[in-house]
Amino acid sequence: MKASLIATLLFLSPVCSGQNVEFLHWWTSAGEKSALNVLEKQLAEHQIEYHPSPVIGGGGDTALTVLQARALAGNSPNMAQIEGPVIKAWDAIGVLHSLNHIADEQHWDSVLYPLAKRINKTGNGYVSMPLVLHRLNWLWVNHHLLKQLNMTVPQNWEEMLSTMEKAREAGVNPLAVGARPWQIAQLFESIMIATGGVEFYKATLVDLNPNTINSEQMRHVLKQFRRLSMLTDHPLQDIPWDKATLQLAQNKALFQIGGDWILGELLSQNIQVPDHIGCYPAPSANGSYLYNMDSLIFLKSRNFDQQKVDKVARVLSDKQFQADFNKVKGSIPVRTDIDLKDFNTCQKQSFRDYAAARQHASAIPSMTDSMAINPVAQQAINSEIYRFYRDTQVTDEDLIKRIIAIAESN
Ligand code: BGC
Repeated sequence: MKASLIATLLFLSPVCSGQNVEFLHWWTSAGEKSALNVLEKQLAEHQIEYHPSPVIGGGGDTALTVLQARALAGNSPNMAQIEGPVIKAWDAIGVLHSLNHIADEQHWDSVLYPLAKRINKTGNGYVSMPLVLHRLNWLWVNHHLLKQLNMTVPQNWEEMLSTMEKAREAGVNPLAVGARPWQIAQLFESIMIATGGVEFYKATLVDLNPNTINSEQMRHVLKQFRRLSMLTDHPLQDIPWDKATLQLAQNKALFQIGGDWILGELLSQNIQVPDHIGCYPAPSANGSYLYNMDSLIFLKSRNFDQQKVDKVARVLSDKQFQADFNKVKGSIPVRTDIDLKDFNTCQKQSFRDYAAARQHASAIPSMTDSMAINPVAQQAINSEIYRFYRDTQVTDEDLIKRIIAIAESN
């Protein structure tokens, strides 16, 4: 009798309502780990034990492959990091828990940006939870080196390339580069927007329109991209984006182009941003805001019922948590009701730039970072762009032909 009473009390007690949640993600750099600490703390405060399953390789390509393999083997993690349109594909096969209950309770329909609603909602309602909005077309500038070289922040691609040339002549590494296909492909996206503009970018990399892929405009973009490739190391140093950021922070490189997870990285190393390292829209961004969004999906499994899902989702969609997480991550919140007054100057600028880009229809999804096309075509195009960048024998025509072939089989 006594024993069964204890068992009943334990079952009812909040301590025993503690639960485990396995989270599959690709946040493995120092800055990303700092953001994860915020998440872990939030879960721990609500008696939820967190089991991370990190998959090395930013950008998420490898993580997505692991997620698929685990789902097929009937061994899904409880929660996974995910991005963009592929969320709808996961929902279509019926493996995602619904988040409608929490979305209603926490008024997602009125607090989320329309973009966050479009990405995370299907005909079944909310099937994922948006967490961060990253801007990708940033230029990160080492002010110390810029001053030493007596140069100014480039305003367009011509100036960018000539500043890099001068830095190279002065023996300074002009651009910190992560040698991975998606990171090089992100340089290509910024050049494409700068040289072709937003409509050209959308037609070419979002709609995969053969007429713009095979165009004079594209050849012009590729000329610029080739010039850029000639200014960085050959062969590229075999380092990922966060090690490249370290070079920037340690005054070993003048620029880095990339998403504001770079800001998270710098902040985690106590680098003064924007005094030491400044953030500027990538040259000739012309008001464009290239984005990706991280979301969380909750996967069905025997040990993870809807009640548990609701508890975890409630805790992670909490307004204060979303603010704290984004602040450390370098991104901006996906909720419109968070005040950014304690955020870094670069995040405040990102927020303003996003508002302006929304008004001018110049907020554009990153193809290379999972926001536009299916993952197979995306990885294939990223690899082709990477090959072009590293191998001067690959011509403009080769790359154009290959992208068209991928577009046609899409
Ligand atoms: C994710 C970011 C992450 C970056 C580098 C991107 O795909 O959206 O959250 O920091 O990859 O790992």
